[in-house]
Formats: sequence, structure tokens, C-alpha cells
Amino acid sequence: MAELGLGTMSILKHGEAEGRRILEAAYEAGIRHFDTADVYDHFEVERLVGSTFAGRRNDLFLTSKGGNEWTGDGMRWNPAPSYLEQALHDSLERLQTDYLDLYYVHGGTMEDDLDATIDFMRRQKQAGVIRQIGLSSIRPNVIRYWLEHGELDVLMTPYSLLDRRIESLDLDIPIVGRGPLAKGLLTAEWSERLSDKGFEAWDISDLRQLLPTIPKPIQAYALAASKRTCAVVLPGASSVNQLNDLMEANQYEVDPHQLDDLLVRLPIHPYTKHAT
Ligand SMILES: NC(=O)c1ccc[n+]([C@@H]2O[C@H](COP(=O)([O-])OP(=O)(O)OC[C@H]3O[C@@H](n4cnc5c(N)ncnc54)[C@H](OP(=O)(O)O)[C@@H]3O)[C@@H](O)[C@H]2O)c1
Repeated sequence: MAELGLGTMSILKHGEAEGRRILEAAYEAGIRHFDTADVYDHFEVERLVGSTFAGRRNDLFLTSKGGNEWTGDGMRWNPAPSYLEQALHDSLERLQTDYLDLYYVHGGTMEDDLDATIDFMRRQKQAGVIRQIGLSSIRPNVIRYWLEHGELDVLMTPYSLLDRRIESLDLDIPIVGRGPLAKGLLTAEWSERLSDKGFEAWDISDLRQLLPTIPKPIQAYALAASKRTCAVVLPGASSVNQLNDLMEANQYEVDPHQLDDLLVRLPIHPYTKHAT
């Protein structure tokens, strides 16, 4: 059975007090898998997660990500072991812990020295600083390289009813599916959240046709669909109200036949970039 985690990328959108309330409400509702990254609100989300859960570390499954180096006026991608070592150390300090249950390399390209990064992650796991090795990626070529060479435990990648691309790769690895709500398009507020940009392979007119046909509550079907493919489903929330909606949708018993029909109807789009 897939687990529901909470992504913390947006928890500071309405300030620190609301961010802390979201974390507490999630914990209260039984969520234990909390996903963060050093880059979220420029280290502040890690600090908030660390201070909120101080004293409860052993209850949690804590994950973070590194590889985006702050240079003073922006971020640059830096997967070099010497940088990652510092980044991991700093994440541990902010999160008030001496290990992570799962640490992700936060992206990367085929131009990186992937073997050096892979070796770094292997050494951290051997030393017990991280319990599992993760990669967060949307690039099939990078994902394949890590699967062949990386002793990868977990892959984080987008997954939702509107973005099923990872199914086209047919991988044998636990998937942490981020973005199951497609930024709110797969919630009751979908019509207010439509934008001219569409979403991934869908343009706005496709979305206008499709979204009203998804069974209701749409958020419950969205989570249930992600649970079919992912080991961990990782939505985000920027308010306690959204967190409450999430927990309600997670408890809702969807009709499995309607879910089957929906999944048959929705396409698995191919990757259009970085395939080789
Ligand atoms: N490269 C990476 O590694 C990477 C990239 C992206 C995300 N992530 C991880 O994945 C997590 C989830 O990503 P995501 O934020 O894209 O997930 P998502 O669940 O698809 O979208 C979350 C957003 O949907 C909207 N939403 C949530 N509940 C709602 C409701 N009841 N009604 C209307 N709108 C609602 C909110 O948008 P508003 O805040 O606009 O209201 C919320 O921030 C992140 O927190 C992060 O941990 C990782």
C-alpha cells in the first residue's frame, strides 16, 4: 500500500506560523514522511522542519535534497562531492538530526560526472549518514544511468493523472510521485487554476474538456491514481485548509471501477526531451 507523505516546498507561502501549523496538522493526521530540500525558501523550510519536529526525530521519515549551490546572486547546479558533502552536513544541522532516511541528488544531467556523485552517495550510505540513496529527476537518460550504476533506492519524479510519463519507462524501482495534484488542477478548485500555459502535455482547451469528466471528489481520484503507481505519494499544501482537504481526500474510498476507467482513458505521454 502506498504511503502518503508531505512535500514542504510551499509551506512558507503564507508565513512561518502557517507553515508550522501545516507540519503539526500533518503529523497529527498521521503523516510521517516529510520531504524537504535545502533550496526551499532558501534554507528556511529545512530550519522550520527541524525546529518543529525537534525531539520527535525518531518518529519521522525525513528526506532532503542537495546539489543546488547558492552563489550569492542565484543558484547553480553543483553535484561535485566536495560541495555535496558540505550541503548534506548543512542540511543535517538545519534539520537538527545526524542522519537522513533518504537523501536525493536534486537533479543533474548527462554532462555531470555522474560516477563521482554516485560514489559520494554510496559512501554516505555506508557511513550511515543517509539510509537510502535517492535521485530526483525528470530525465530518462539520467534516470537510466543511475539505475544501471547508482545503487539507487528510490526515484522521485512527477506523477499525476496529468503526467504519467514515468509509466512509459516501466522501471523496477520505488517511485516517490511528486505533484499528484498537478499544482491544484486536480482539486475542486481546478477551474480557477487553469492557465493559458496548460499543464505539461495538456493545453488549456484539453484540460477544460477533461477535468469536468474526472469523477468527484477529483482530489480523491487523483491521490488514488498516484497510489496505484507510486510507493510514496507526495503532495504539497500551502495552508492548513489545503492540508485538511488532502487528508479528507486521502480517506475517501474511491470506486475502483471508476478509477480503472479513468486510467484507461488518460494517456501516458512519452518523454519529449533527454530520452537518450
Ligand atoms: N525537483 C524536485 O525534486 C521537486 C520539484 C517539485 C516538488 N518537489 C516535492 O514535491 C512536493 C509536492 O510538489 P507540488 O507542490 O508540485 O505538489 P502538488 O500536490 O501537485 O501541488 C501542491 C499545490 O497544489 C495546490 N493545492 C493543494 N491543495 C489544494 C486544494 N485543496 N485546493 C486547491 N489547490 C490546492 C497548492 O497550490 P498553491 O500553493 O498555489 O495554493 C499546493 O501548493 C513538494 O512540496 C516537494 O517536496 C520536488
